[in-house]
Amino acid sequence: MKKSKRVKKSNTWKIKQHRDQFFKKSKALGYRSRASFKLIELNNKYKFLKKNTNLLDLGSSPGGWSQVASKIITSGKILSIDINNMKPIENVKFLNCDIFDPVTKDRIDNYFNGNLDVIISDMAADTTGNKSLDSIRTNQLCAEVINFSSKILKNNGVFVSKLFMGEDFIEVSNLAKSLFKNVNFFKPEASRSESKETYLHCKIIKTL
Ligand SMILES: C[S@@+](CC[C@H](N)C(=O)[O-])C[C@H]1O[C@@H](n2cnc3c(N)ncnc32)[C@H](O)[C@@H]1O
Repeated sequence: MKKSKRVKKSNTWKIKQHRDQFFKKSKALGYRSRASFKLIELNNKYKFLKKNTNLLDLGSSPGGWSQVASKIITSGKILSIDINNMKPIENVKFLNCDIFDPVTKDRIDNYFNGNLDVIISDMAADTTGNKSLDSIRTNQLCAEVINFSSKILKNNGVFVSKLFMGEDFIEVSNLAKSLFKNVNFFKPEASRSESKETYLHCKIIKTL
């Protein structure tokens, strides 16, 4: 077998192993998606989920992140939103709607009444088959939610979001840095190493 074919085969094997490892772990622990482990790692690093946190989970379906949050948050409120449906999770209120629909913001405001501590967003645009375009479309969602978050979070709030290291990565990072005091990037182990996916962690809104 040629060397290039051998390398490709070994990479495919590693990707499959990585997927299987987190898939088996999520089944064993009753999580709906492998994504749960990304939030667990993010929270271990930045410690933004506490028992009394008021949390907004954007792009929540099928519910892996909301499941993790509902185990930690016992006295705060959790509101999860997705354009796809999500099966119920204890202590989690779910809204089946588009985050960019103008009435959604009012529904969020009414639910938290100005007392929103943390927004987590794992939103991803529908895939087109063109990785570069998919990355731009998902980063566009991230940019819109950065702006949105800086308007609805408490001043010392936290925003965590999926972001791709594509051609507009710097532009989106700069937007985050213009609106938040602390901005960090972290790639969880549960995120496939060959994927350009990373996560943005922002804290404390800048007052202009
Ligand atoms: C990667 S999945 C999220 C997985 C989830 N964090 C979990 O742990 O199970 C991305 C989700 O973003 C949602 N999404 C994309 N655009 C959206 C929008 N404009 N409003 C609400 N949800 C959106 C999709 O429907 C999809 O379910």
